Amino acid sequence: MVIELTEEQRIVRETARDFAQRELLPEVIERDEKQMFPKEQISKMGELGFMGMMVDPKYNGGGMDTVSYVVALEEIAKVDASAAVVMSVNNSLVCWGLEKYGTEEQKEKYLKRLATGEILGAFCLSEPEAGSDATSQKTTAEDKGDHYLVNGTKNWITNGNSASVYIVFAQTNPELKHNGINALIIEKDQEGFVIGRKENKMGIRGSDTHSLMFSDVKVPKSNRLGDEGFGFKLAMKILNGGRIGIASQALGIASGCLELSLKYAKERKAFGKTISQHQAIQFKLAEMATQIEAARLLCWQAAFLKDQHKNYTKEAAMAKYFASEIAMNAAVEAIQIHGGYGYVKEFHVERFLRDAKITQIYEGTTEIQKIVISRELLIN
Ligand code: CAA
Repeated sequence: MVIELTEEQRIVRETARDFAQRELLPEVIERDEKQMFPKEQISKMGELGFMGMMVDPKYNGGGMDTVSYVVALEEIAKVDASAAVVMSVNNSLVCWGLEKYGTEEQKEKYLKRLATGEILGAFCLSEPEAGSDATSQKTTAEDKGDHYLVNGTKNWITNGNSASVYIVFAQTNPELKHNGINALIIEKDQEGFVIGRKENKMGIRGSDTHSLMFSDVKVPKSNRLGDEGFGFKLAMKILNGGRIGIASQALGIASGCLELSLKYAKERKAFGKTISQHQAIQFKLAEMATQIEAARLLCWQAAFLKDQHKNYTKEAAMAKYFASEIAMNAAVEAIQIHGGYGYVKEFHVERFLRDAKITQIYEGTTEIQKIVISRELLIN
């Protein structure tokens, strides 16, 4: 057994690390404070191939493996968790779904531009009354022969306004329950589609999160993703991969906390020596580092299984559950290590705490991950 990155994966990591330090770090505090979307930076990430990393080069993607994606996301999230979620949603929830389940026409029309970051995508499953209970879709897609008529509201949609292409889940046959749900590709400028208010969030404030309203939006049947009634299962399959992305985002937040804490602990003096020489701080650093290594192995394992075309549902849920928990812990401890400085914005760690919290909520809460893990344990 060899747990080592390949030369190519190491280059990807170095490229992402360098980009994050050079392009994301300088204005990350301002973007957080003013809720500014990192438009220019995301477009540069597209040029580097980070917005469609796993997509086949014939659709303008990077043709890379999931492990490369995970190591790149960790480096991006280490500096800017908002840019990381934009990257994760576009890669895992939109590009992957389109490449796996889309028709050739859909790939030509949408995937090619999404994979370069020229346009962004959004994944629209959550609703005011359907978050964890995702089968309870109230948005409807009435079958009108050659098209669907979509009505309803979606909530907390990442890339809500910055996206151009939306994968929207809607119920066509309520009597079939989740087997009546369809996945539809909707474009931003379609008549009847309105972008709602931007959420004023606690964390990941550089990303834009909106509610979306659909009122008699006409969607041609050629824009259905996957077979009729396959929408819910398609969402679940897409989210299995999405959870690897969010786990990597959480891992990046945790490693960012550790890097800053190590640096600060070696500089800051108290009681005649650097605080890194006090055992109370050493123990915190040791605990953070151990948890981060464990989370990284879970992320790499889930990514590796996906690359091997094996079942990774349980491992992806474990990675997300664990990495998001340890990200919260790392952020709390990083603030404690930084003392008063940790509580103010210039030192980054208070932002990490606010950013870490969402990783326990979106793409399936911690409690949902435990349901997914235990179901997988019990059926096997
Ligand atoms: N992988 C593949 N298939 C799955 C699956 C998975 N992880 N989970 C469920 N399914 C399949 C089931 O096998 C079942 O198939 P059959 O009809 O063949 O039996 C079908 O889907 C329905 O599943 P359940 O009967 O298990 O449905 P349930 O209602 O009991 O539970 C759930 C489903 C696991 C709780 C699901 O609703 C869920 O994952 N909820 C969380 C939703 C979520 O993650 N939302 C995130 C929003 S997106 C977001 O946050 C993006 C962003 O912007 C960052």
